[in-house]
Amino acid sequence: MLAPLPPCALEIRGLVKRFERPAVDGLDLAVRAGEFYALLGPNGAGKTTTLRMIAGLTRPDAGAIHVAGIDALADPVAAKRVMAWISDEPMIYDKLTPREYLEFVAGLWGVEPALAEMRAQELLDWLDLAAHADERCEGFSKDMRQKVALAGALVHEPQVIILDEPLTGLDAGSARQVKNVLRERVRAGGAIISWKSPNAWPTASASLRTAGSSPRARSRSCTARRGRMADDAGAAGGGVATLEDAFLALVAAPAAA
Ligand SMILES: Nc1ncnc2c1ncn2[C@@H]1O[C@H](COP(=O)(O)OP(=O)(O)OP(=O)(O)O)[C@@H](O)[C@H]1O
Ligand SMILES: [Mg+2]
Repeated sequence: MLAPLPPCALEIRGLVKRFERPAVDGLDLAVRAGEFYALLGPNGAGKTTTLRMIAGLTRPDAGAIHVAGIDALADPVAAKRVMAWISDEPMIYDKLTPREYLEFVAGLWGVEPALAEMRAQELLDWLDLAAHADERCEGFSKDMRQKVALAGALVHEPQVIILDEPLTGLDAGSARQVKNVLRERVRAGGAIISWKSPNAWPTASASLRTAGSSPRARSRSCTARRGRMADDAGAAGGGVATLEDAFLALVAAPAAA
């Protein structure tokens, strides 16, 4: 049983990262408990940089990050324990089978073996990998590899899931399986997902104003552009027909001073 989350699964304040120029430029956002938060933005908007800072892979120049109430910059190890990071180019060990890989990852997290085995089987079933659970990953398609990586990221039952374009390259069937698993998991925690297109995540597709309750999970979105928030969860959504229209209008608009 997971510990109850504080009201914010994830909170970011004044986040800054500069390379040759600012990649993330004073970003504020909050993902509530039980919420799916879509970070939308075109190429170079700063999505991956933001998510890498949350995951503890890139050190911010300024700002604060709290994951499930833990100060991720002061105590990165504790923050990593409660989160999962799934990159857009996930790595798995080709010489292992999915079952061996999940056992290995669960061992790294110190999950008790019988519990790890049960969770692994559940994830393998959910992601339709059970028939291949004892084959080496080296011959797997991109879809299957991505699903194995996702299972590995979820086997320690993280409360906060951070995903960088996790559906890239997945066929429709695999994308649905991944979305179903994530929806199920996000009810007990929170998730932030990045995407270049507002249409890729149907739960956020009807309108920018998607906050509210549904039997599955609440979802909300914001649009980032050139390292800044162009719109947080619908401030610019009025009078715009669809999320796609709003997104395109936001990324085309001149930058705020
Ligand atoms: N390690 C790095 N060194 C230098 N510049 C970087 C580095 N990582 C990112 N950048 C720059 O920061 C900006 C934001 O990049 P980032 O990868 O975060 O954008 P993104 O929104 O994820 O884009 P994409 O949709 O292409 O994945 C870009 O201008 C990029 O070139
Ligand atoms: Mg990226």
